[in-house]
Amino acid sequence: MSVNRVPSGIDGLDEIIGGGFPRGSLIVLAGNPGTGKTIFSASFLYRGIVDYGEKGVYVSFAENSETFFSNMRAFGFNFEKLERAGKFRFLDLITAREEAAPAIIETILREVSEVGARRLVIDSFSALAQMFKEKHEVRIILHTILSRVTRFLDCTTLLIVENPYGEDRIGFGIEEFVADGIILLKRSRLADRLLRELEIFKMRGTPVQETLTVFTLKDGFKVFPPFKPKPIKKPSRFQPRPDTEERFSTGSLDLDEMLGGGYPRGSSVLIEIDEYISALQCHLIVAPTDSNFLAHGRGVIAIPSRGVDHNLVKRWFEDVGLTREEINRLLRICVKEYAGFKPEPYTLMLKGENILDDYARYMETEQELMKLTGQPVLNIIGADTLIDIYGVKETISFLRDRATRIRETKGLGIFIFKPGYPRLAKILGALADVHLKVTREHGAALVYGVKPGTNLYVLEMDVSRGYAMPKLTPII
Ligand SMILES: Nc1ncnc2c1ncn2[C@@H]1O[C@H](COP(=O)(O)OP(=O)(O)OP(=O)(O)O)[C@@H](O)[C@H]1O
Ligand SMILES: [Mg+2]
Repeated sequence: MSVNRVPSGIDGLDEIIGGGFPRGSLIVLAGNPGTGKTIFSASFLYRGIVDYGEKGVYVSFAENSETFFSNMRAFGFNFEKLERAGKFRFLDLITAREEAAPAIIETILREVSEVGARRLVIDSFSALAQMFKEKHEVRIILHTILSRVTRFLDCTTLLIVENPYGEDRIGFGIEEFVADGIILLKRSRLADRLLRELEIFKMRGTPVQETLTVFTLKDGFKVFPPFKPKPIKKPSRFQPRPDTEERFSTGSLDLDEMLGGGYPRGSSVLIEIDEYISALQCHLIVAPTDSNFLAHGRGVIAIPSRGVDHNLVKRWFEDVGLTREEINRLLRICVKEYAGFKPEPYTLMLKGENILDDYARYMETEQELMKLTGQPVLNIIGADTLIDIYGVKETISFLRDRATRIRETKGLGIFIFKPGYPRLAKILGALADVHLKVTREHGAALVYGVKPGTNLYVLEMDVSRGYAMPKLTPII
């Protein structure tokens, strides 16, 4: 690596900027009010001190130390303690006057060298620059800070630039030329929900691959690099989650929390999958519920989505430690008959000629499973497969009838729906009691509830338990 890096202290950021900020660089951090500039900077300093032993100075023109300290405590940052230990200095310049501008620069420089700081934040450079009447003076301070603080003292510096509401342009047209890196924080909307975006305009010494990423402020500043599958190191058996009187657990704590406790008993759930969503991402949302049903000794009937065959489904369940005996007893995977097909105890053949015949066989299987277990059944249905076999009209009747039957038997239905039939999406949306959407933005997989309405959640893969589970983090 040609440039020496310092970790940014921001979760997820270093891997997209080549390991961190260039040491001793000047980074412009710009954004509208409330976009997370202060939280970003605080994390940069706090982690710098605590994790990397780099002392820090925070220069504030906007809030006093009490406000800063108490706001940052919410994120687990105890700056007071660090200040008492001589590792951190909060420089309050709220009342600094115009005439004092040159002296202010001296004060900042003195603090940095007295503390021995390797990290400096100026919140904000916009406020500092306003103290100078002439543009050339602004240029001079920038160069002073740049050469004396960053290069000479080897102190990595964040310059916060405040963009007025509605403006994405950065600053005054000076700092961006001098800066080694420029990061812009944005608030935007997706499906009428809050989306936070971080854009990297430049980063010296790094060919930045992903210039736009999604981030959240939930429990601190966290950037989400593009979704990555994770290998499962030590496979272990799926641990079921308990249901409540009103609801079936989804099998995932995160998904249960997102939905206020799981899927209501007797409900039909529509999971609408965007065209950019991979089979694995879809699987992460749906599979925990299947596993939870099977692990509780209940029956599951599945009509896999296009591209997912019964062998794959069976393997998914073996991967989470379900036994062959459990699979044979409780699982029924529908397979459209083809030449040479060898039935297995867990397959249910659909002839695909007459939907009424096939549906009768489906109902029979449902009855059998209910009788065998004394419990309701989970129906997991890839609507695209039904459309392929029977056409749109018959698919609607099939799913309508399922929804009614599921309500009567207090079971559960999960209908997976892929793009291509917008009219059908509307019909199924109206039919469903719960409606989730899975989509993608800047490489991150996002999940949100249409019914009930929820925030956007970022979907990641969690393999800490020895099997694949969804990790969901709200964007707030
Ligand atoms: N404890 C918390 N957990 C999560 N988010 C929080 C918390 N406290 C505040 N926020 C959010 O943080 C955002 C403000 O972050 P921050 O103060 O870093 O923004 P900023 O860009 O510095 O704003 P300003 O321009 O007003 O200084 C707000 O949108 C607020 O909703
Ligand atoms: Mg701020």
